[in-house]
Amino acid sequence: MVVVGSANVDYLISVDRRPVPGETVMARGLRTLGGGKGANQAFAAALAGAEVHFVACVGDDALGEQRMAELASVGVRTALVRRAAGSLTGLAFITVTPDGENDIIVAPGANAALGREDVDAAAHLLAGPCVLLAQLEVPHPATARAIELAGPQARVVLNLSPWRRLPAELLGRVDVLVVNEVEAAAMWGSPVGTVAEAMEAGRALRGAGPSAVVVTLGAAGAVAVADGLEEHVPSPPVEVVDTTGAGDAFAGALAARRALGYDLLEAVRYGAAMGSATTSRLGAQAVAPGTSSLSC
Ligand code: RIB
Repeated sequence: MVVVGSANVDYLISVDRRPVPGETVMARGLRTLGGGKGANQAFAAALAGAEVHFVACVGDDALGEQRMAELASVGVRTALVRRAAGSLTGLAFITVTPDGENDIIVAPGANAALGREDVDAAAHLLAGPCVLLAQLEVPHPATARAIELAGPQARVVLNLSPWRRLPAELLGRVDVLVVNEVEAAAMWGSPVGTVAEAMEAGRALRGAGPSAVVVTLGAAGAVAVADGLEEHVPSPPVEVVDTTGAGDAFAGALAARRALGYDLLEAVRYGAAMGSATTSRLGAQAVAPGTSSLSC
């Protein structure tokens, strides 16, 4: 499978509470960890057993090198990751409170340099039977080009995160659209919080083009809506430490399962398990062996 997306270094700051404007609070701890929605999804997909080719752009700095080495250590193929000369690797500043909730500010750095030519380098893979997994944390032309290059045998899994309105022709090429409650509500135009609302949103969003829609609901699991399928899949219960990257783990594992030939429902179950497991530890690539961290 091919993952096209962002790669960041996450500065994960644990706090008792977030400051109000103008206030300073002391952190409980700081870790630097691998992040970026694309990299997180590639990581999860590799752990789920898929052969993953990652298309991304990092800076020509040590942080970029280190993160790519980490991805490679779990089997992600990084030959299509470009080191953009003179750029810094993307950074994300994440605060996590004791309830596991986070907020994130991303400085895109080299991710902003990912272009159509980078994606063209994966054209030979996308032309064949493969799964393309994309998100929206890189410039739109790169995502659009990847979907455009996906041939008739390719299946497109699109995680609409961070939310952005997409042209109908792109959504029409999507096999599985993965959105969380916030993204589903933004696209649908009504709030999504319950399983029933997610189901209704899923039906409505299918009307925008994708063959199947999966709406994730955090601890409440996910719903899948496709031809002849309307199912709520609960999340395995877990003691939540940090929800960062749970949606990425879900999408990566789901796409990997599809690439390995499993049906949509089984893929959603696996995604829910991986997403849930990720929340039990700090960091977006928490389930992965070999994730390094620096503590202070
Ligand atoms: O989805 C979580 C990710 O969002 C983090 O890893 C951060 O890098 C941002 O991309």
